[in-house]
Parts: sequence; structure tokens; C-alpha cells
Amino acid sequence: MMNLDEHTITEEALRRIEHTPSPRLKAIMTGLLYHLHAFAREVQLTEQEWLEGIQFLTRTGQISNSVRQEMILLSDTLGLSQLVVAQNHSRPQAATEQTVFGPFHVEGAPSLLTHGADIAVGASGDPLWVVANVVDSRGHAVVDALVDVWQADGDGFYDVQDEGWRIDESRLRAIFTTDGDGRFSFRSVMPTSYPIPMDGPVGQMMNATNRHPMRPAHIHFMIRKDGFDTLVTHVFADGDEYLDSDAVFGVRSSCIGTYVPHEEGAITPAGTVSERRFYTLDYTFVLHGLDER
Ligand code: BEZ
Ligand code: FE
Repeated sequence: MMNLDEHTITEEALRRIEHTPSPRLKAIMTGLLYHLHAFAREVQLTEQEWLEGIQFLTRTGQISNSVRQEMILLSDTLGLSQLVVAQNHSRPQAATEQTVFGPFHVEGAPSLLTHGADIAVGASGDPLWVVANVVDSRGHAVVDALVDVWQADGDGFYDVQDEGWRIDESRLRAIFTTDGDGRFSFRSVMPTSYPIPMDGPVGQMMNATNRHPMRPAHIHFMIRKDGFDTLVTHVFADGDEYLDSDAVFGVRSSCIGTYVPHEEGAITPAGTVSERRFYTLDYTFVLHGLDER
């Protein structure tokens, strides 16, 4: 069809994908075209604005690499990641909720560390001892679950944000296996609230829309076990000032843990007298069985 105008082009674009072999791809492309065109019409997009949008997305792709995921960060800060997580992991109230994956997980972290291992290897921050249980919806221990842990240091930085970082120099990330009682434990540092990376295109978007970049203090966990929905979640610090305004919309109340402070001079879980303030966290993860849907 020729002579398309702003009123007729959407119908023609939809007609061109009519013969898409995959029904699912056809549904996705139809929705995308329909809403993309509706968006341009609704805001009366100018050519200059269209160009700036294209340049923004180009910069977002260009700054991304295997350890910097600016595209995921864009999705996170637009609320798209949490929306997709929420609509794919609805679960009963008792089960621990799912949150965004975030851009800082890396495959190949030190694996199957012994319980109680220190994953901080000298990272900044107050000492923290974590003890956790993994149970099913009836409260029974989930044995031999694979638990991936990753977190920022006490200054709010992930190891991968260091220039020259190498996987064999990982810190504050590890993989454990739950024991016969469904437990695992490790030593780490107390996480603090931190800003998402603001030195790229997403930072420009956040500044331009007058948004703060902070995430409440948290540790990331991914727990995998056959027969259960893989749990990707965080344990946020109770009382953090950003719980209600997380820059990536990830906070669920079932994912808030009590990181208990202990003053200098108290006895640590390792049985030593601490020369500084430290924290303990005892948390239970409830997995959602795939046959419980
Ligand atoms: C994070 O907590 O690692 C994170 C998640 C989403 C965007 C930025 C950071
Ligand atoms: Fe994080």
C-alpha cells in the first residue's frame, strides 16, 4: 500500500506481519507495533525527539558489555523488569517473593564453598554473619539446593565495578549447597544502600526525570532446586530509608530481613570478642513447588 499517513500506517505495519509463522512472535510483534505507534501518536513525537531517543538507545547498547548491562539497568529503572518478574511468579503468601535479577550477577563465582566461609575476602564494611534456612511451603527442609549469593561491599560497590576485575578475584559472591537441614551460612560484610550506576545513559535519564538513584541495602540470592520455581530474590535491610523508593522497584515486604546490630565487645558467632560493630542475619527462604501452581 502507498500514500500511508499517520492514521493508516499502523494497520499496514500490522498487515505486513500477518504471516509470521510463530503465533507467539506474531502476538508479541503485534502488541509492540500497536503500542509503539500509539505512543508516538499520544505524545506527538517530533523528529528531533525520535532522533534523541534513537541516540539514547544506541549509547545504552554501546556502553554495555559482558559485565556492564546498561540495557538491563534501563529495563530495571523503567519498572519493566519488576513488572515481568511479578507477572511470571505469582505465588502464595507464604512463599518468598521474587525480585529483579539486576545487572551484577556473574556466572562462574567460587562454588560450593564450605558453610561459614568468609566471602568478603577483605572487602570494606562491618562484619556480618548470615545463617539461612531453605524450606518448602510445608516448612520442610530443602536439602541440596544450590544457593547463589552476591552483594555489594560496605561502600556500595560490586567487585565487577572495579576496573580490571577478573573472575578469579571475585569477592562477595559465592555458591553454596544447603545441608541435610536445608541450611547454609557464611560470613560477609553488612551491605549498605547504594546508587545504581549513574555514569551512563541511564544516569542521564534518571537526572533528567529528577529521580534519586538509590537502592536499599540488600544481598542477592538465587536458589535452585529441581521441583521448585527458581527463587531470584534479595534480602533487604529492615529500616533502610530507601525501602519505599527503590530506584528499580524491587522491594517486597516478604524480602525484608532483620540484620541485627551488635556493638563492639559482643561475642561473635565465631566465639570471638569483636573489636568493632558487627551484624547477624537469620533468614528463612520459602520455595514455591512447581506442583503447587
Ligand atoms: C542490584 O541490586 O544489583 C541492581 C539491580 C538493578 C539495577 C541496578 C542494580
Ligand atoms: Fe544489588
